[in-house]
Amino acid sequence: MDNLLEPSLFFHSLYQNVDGYQISFQARQKLFENSSDLTYGEIPFVSWREIILRANPKNGGVFFDLGSGSGRVVVASHLLFNFRKSVGVELLFELHEAALEIKNNFEKLATPQIKEHVAGRELHFIHSNFLNTDLRDADFIFINHILGDKKSFAQLERKLLNELKPGTKIVTTIRRLANTAFKRLGSETYKFNWGNSRAHFFEV
Ligand SMILES: C[S@@+](CC[C@H](N)C(=O)[O-])C[C@H]1O[C@@H](n2cnc3c(N)ncnc32)[C@H](O)[C@@H]1O
Repeated sequence: MDNLLEPSLFFHSLYQNVDGYQISFQARQKLFENSSDLTYGEIPFVSWREIILRANPKNGGVFFDLGSGSGRVVVASHLLFNFRKSVGVELLFELHEAALEIKNNFEKLATPQIKEHVAGRELHFIHSNFLNTDLRDADFIFINHILGDKKSFAQLERKLLNELKPGTKIVTTIRRLANTAFKRLGSETYKFNWGNSRAHFFEV
């Protein structure tokens, strides 16, 4: 894990004018169907750093944020940890676009200054439903959404069990993985934007 100060400065300057809550709210207003599954929420940079430290993912591995919003967790991971690939998957096009703009700014403004720091690391954003995204590459997965419908959550769990390699680490907030096939590695309380809440740690 790298020294916190510099990555944190880059991160906050990239995101200072991006209001993911507003982008998500406006995008959801255009949808006709019930969009409660797409409820937005963000994790502070410092809390995400603590979560990665606790999860201890594979060095040089592939990270996926399933439901990546404006890409904050993906960009923070790219800056903080030696992931070969950090990938965000987001269904709402407007949030996906915001993440792509951040990626552009990152490559223009930050990468030239920290070339060596991020050498060999890739940043990707996919506009897709994560239930239809190929996750076979993953070594570390983050799931931070309500997915209120129990059937969809069970479908996601089955997909993870079918596709992921043994040893893949998973962190969830809000909901625990219920399937007992996942090895439980405990839970901790962290500060999130909606207050103190638990993150749950698992391994395939
Ligand atoms: C609570 S936000 C989390 C944002 C980001 N991961 C973070 O922690 O800062 C959950 C995101 O998941 C997205 N989402 C929900 N269901 C999804 C699905 N099936 N496929 C892709 N994205 C989804 C929502 O649109 C929302 O942006």
